[in-house]
Amino acid sequence: MKNNLHRIKSVRAERNMVYMIDQVLLPWEFKICKTERYLETCKAIKTMIVRGAGTIGATAGFAMWQAVYEAPEKNYIDFLNKAKIEIEATRPTARDLFVAVNRVYERALISRNEAEEEAHKIADENAEAGKKIGEFGNNLIKDGDRILTHCNAGHLALVDYGSALAPVYKAHSEGKNIFVYVDETRPRSQGAKLTAWELNNAGVPHAIIPDNAAAWYMSLGKIDIFITGADRIAANGDTANKIGTLGKAIAARHYKIPFYVAAPLSTFDFDIKTGKDIQIEERSQDEVLYQTGPDKKGTIRKIRVASHGSPSCNPAFDVTPKKFIKGFITEEGIKKI
Ligand code: MRU
Repeated sequence: MKNNLHRIKSVRAERNMVYMIDQVLLPWEFKICKTERYLETCKAIKTMIVRGAGTIGATAGFAMWQAVYEAPEKNYIDFLNKAKIEIEATRPTARDLFVAVNRVYERALISRNEAEEEAHKIADENAEAGKKIGEFGNNLIKDGDRILTHCNAGHLALVDYGSALAPVYKAHSEGKNIFVYVDETRPRSQGAKLTAWELNNAGVPHAIIPDNAAAWYMSLGKIDIFITGADRIAANGDTANKIGTLGKAIAARHYKIPFYVAAPLSTFDFDIKTGKDIQIEERSQDEVLYQTGPDKKGTIRKIRVASHGSPSCNPAFDVTPKKFIKGFITEEGIKKI
């Protein structure tokens, strides 16, 4: 399959309307979800209609702008303060969310117009950073490389281009013969549903592997490089990313496979010294206990895939210590920290 569906920006806004690719419906249905009010946009972030640190950030910036648009003249500041708290509570781990909300909030104190401009600037910067990450990261990928990636850090996870997948797209477009092993990424299956959908659309050779197969493939010498995105990077380089990254980073170190984290500079949090200070989001037990997918008629169904009566734990992210990370692919080049 080769089409450009995945190249439509994951989020954009016109006046007070926010348009998002509905990532909950993918890969079965391609639909744009639109929201008019900031609380609807908060819900879209929380329920993962949009997800991925860069897209979450840009969407949160637009949500803050919607709040500015909605704020009554009389209680302007009170309204904004309340909205800021509500938007920030949607997803606590992604650094980009807090950066974006703050940037728009600060401008809203000057004027509504400035707030709107800032929200668009944040989204544009995120897309541009993805493009540059692709160019720098491409230099790390050799012809013939077999690449492992976890979760979805592609076009959908940034406003455009992606972080971990941006170098993959660039390498593929240059004619390098590459192959991508896609971790399925339980429980929300961002790899199996979103990364695989993106790579299919772009015509990049790949295969979905169960999460617990990555170390085995490394041991067989089938993986040359491991690249993921990030949700928050502490000052010392410790990196929060989708749950499951840590185990693979440890295995990669054991098998001497270079592990790179691709992220825009907006994901670095220099206010946090180490990964111990990163707040890890705990999500609903249902995400582990149930899976969704279409039945034979195409109706999306939710089915239980675990023993009845058992609870689950569902940390959305883990933190990989810096010592396991060879470098950070940013819009300003490869950084070591
Ligand atoms: O819970 P999600 O789907 O928002 O988590 C996304 C990830 O962990 C991505 O790998 C991460 O955001 C890096 S790509 C911007």
